[in-house]
Amino acid sequence: MAFISYVRQMFQPIADMSEKFNIMQSAMASAERVFGVMDTAPEVTEAPDAEAPAEMAGRVEFESVSFSYVEGKQVLRDVSFTVEPGRSVAVVGPTGAGKTSIINLLCRFYDPSSGSVKVDGTDLRRMPMASLRRNMAIVLQDAFIFSRTIEDNIRLGSPIGTESVRKAAEMVQADGFIENLPGGYSEVMAERGATLSTGQKQLICFARALAHDPKILILDEATSSVDPATEQLVQKAIETLMRGRTSIIVAHRLSTIQKADEILVLDEGRIVERGSHQELLARRGIYYNLYLLQYRNG
Ligand SMILES: Nc1ncnc2c1ncn2[C@@H]1O[C@H](COP(=O)(O)OP(=O)(O)OP(=O)(O)O)[C@@H](O)[C@H]1O
Ligand SMILES: [Mg+2]
Repeated sequence: MAFISYVRQMFQPIADMSEKFNIMQSAMASAERVFGVMDTAPEVTEAPDAEAPAEMAGRVEFESVSFSYVEGKQVLRDVSFTVEPGRSVAVVGPTGAGKTSIINLLCRFYDPSSGSVKVDGTDLRRMPMASLRRNMAIVLQDAFIFSRTIEDNIRLGSPIGTESVRKAAEMVQADGFIENLPGGYSEVMAERGATLSTGQKQLICFARALAHDPKILILDEATSSVDPATEQLVQKAIETLMRGRTSIIVAHRLSTIQKADEILVLDEGRIVERGSHQELLARRGIYYNLYLLQYRNG
């Protein structure tokens, strides 16, 4: 008995050692990936002599912009439009038309293949990215919620006081459901906001945008539908957000589209029609058909 138990004691550490070796190997493989990500050179780079503009007015200009993600497959072709400070543009079009791509260029996640994107007359390639993005609020198709408190989610690490956070939430009428949560503004969210409804997540993202008080508002409206009561809240919130800001909105809601100063109809990367809601309806073109199919009942 004694002999057998000694033998066991001798082999146990040896078995342990080989297990440690396994852990080491998987750690090395993970480290390789981590360093791979850290070593990735960004595709867009900041010009060394880029100068921060003093105060941004928020004039957005696309000058015959063409763009492709992969060589040979053009996503945007010769897109030109201008949005004056405080005005709004709605971009509509079928899925895959390149709406989100316009937004990606404006946020400078990518650079155009030809043509230029300008804010206040300065090419984005000659503007520091920090000052560009400080003046922008982006609400994307899929609302992203971090597993932090509601307040942290609205503040997003910026030095914004509790008062302003609450005010922003009130203005988009998100305070109603927030105050009904057990922890209120300090309620910690589940991973990716799993415990919130789609509409509630959107409202939090709107509050987030409003709290940062941007000059340029970029909104990629979610296609997912919400219940009629929340829908009304969302519509009002969008209206509040747009007030006094240059807004570029990829719109799916008829209400949002109608409020925009100009509508751009995009198809296969080209602007095929532009004008106001009434003008476009009168033309009986693509927008008219889109309206009949998608919006008349919505
Ligand atoms: N990261 C990417 N890499 C390669 N191709 C992409 C990428 N993102 C989008 N595309 C392609 O670019 C085209 C336009 O996509 P985009 O996301 O701009 O469409 P969209 O108008 O926003 O559509 P939706 O209404 O469905 O959101 C599509 O054909 C798509 O396959
Ligand atoms: Mg899109």
